[in-house]
Amino acid sequence: MDTIKIHDKFFTPFIDAKKIDAVVKKVAEDILNDLKGEQPVFIGILNGSFMFIADFVRHYQDECQVSFVKLSSYQGTTTTGKVKELVGIQEDLEGKTVVILEDIIDTGNTLEEIYKIFEDKKVKTLKIATLFFKPEIFKKDLKIDYIGLSIPNKFIVGYGLDYDGLGRNLSDIYQLKTTTN
Ligand code: IMP
Ligand code: MG
Repeated sequence: MDTIKIHDKFFTPFIDAKKIDAVVKKVAEDILNDLKGEQPVFIGILNGSFMFIADFVRHYQDECQVSFVKLSSYQGTTTTGKVKELVGIQEDLEGKTVVILEDIIDTGNTLEEIYKIFEDKKVKTLKIATLFFKPEIFKKDLKIDYIGLSIPNKFIVGYGLDYDGLGRNLSDIYQLKTTTN
C-alpha cells in the first residue's frame, strides 16, 4: 500500500482490507451472540456504510432483514454540524429488533439524529453498531452498543468512506497525511 492522492490531498495507508474484515467479522459475531433467534433488522446509514453492511451481513450467519437510510452531514473533510435525512425508512419497524450500522461515529451529530428518527418508531430494541469510532471528538451522552475499532482523530477514506465523493471504492483505509506522518 502506497500514499495516494485524492483531489488536493495525500493519504497514507492506515488499515488494510484483511484487518478490516477481521473487525467486521468480530462485530457480526458479537451481535449474533447477543441477538440469537431475534431476526433483527439491520439498517445501514448511507452512503458511507455500504461496504461494511455488505460484508457484515455475509458474516451474520442467521436470519435477518437489511434496509437503508440516507443521511448526510459532511462536506469535504469537516462536518457541517447539520444532519439531513435524504431517504427515510420505508418499513414498519414496530416491535422489531433494530440494529443501526454506521461506518464511523465522529461528532455524534448523525447518531443524535438517528436516535430522534427512531423515537416514534415503537421498535422493540434499538442497538447501534459502528465500524469506526473517534473517541477524542465524540462528546455526546448517547449509547453506542458495538464499536469495531476506535481510531485517532484523523480523517480517513476507503472502504465506503469518501473525501468529497471519492475514495469509497478503495478496499483499504487511508488516513489524511499531515505534517506529522
Ligand atoms: P458525525 O455526525 O460527526 O458523527 O459523522 C458521522 C458521518 O460523517 C459518518 O457517517 C461519515 O459518513 C462521516 N465521517 C466522519 N468522519 C469521517 C472520516 O474520517 N472520513 C470520512 N467520512 C467521515
Ligand atoms: Mg455515514
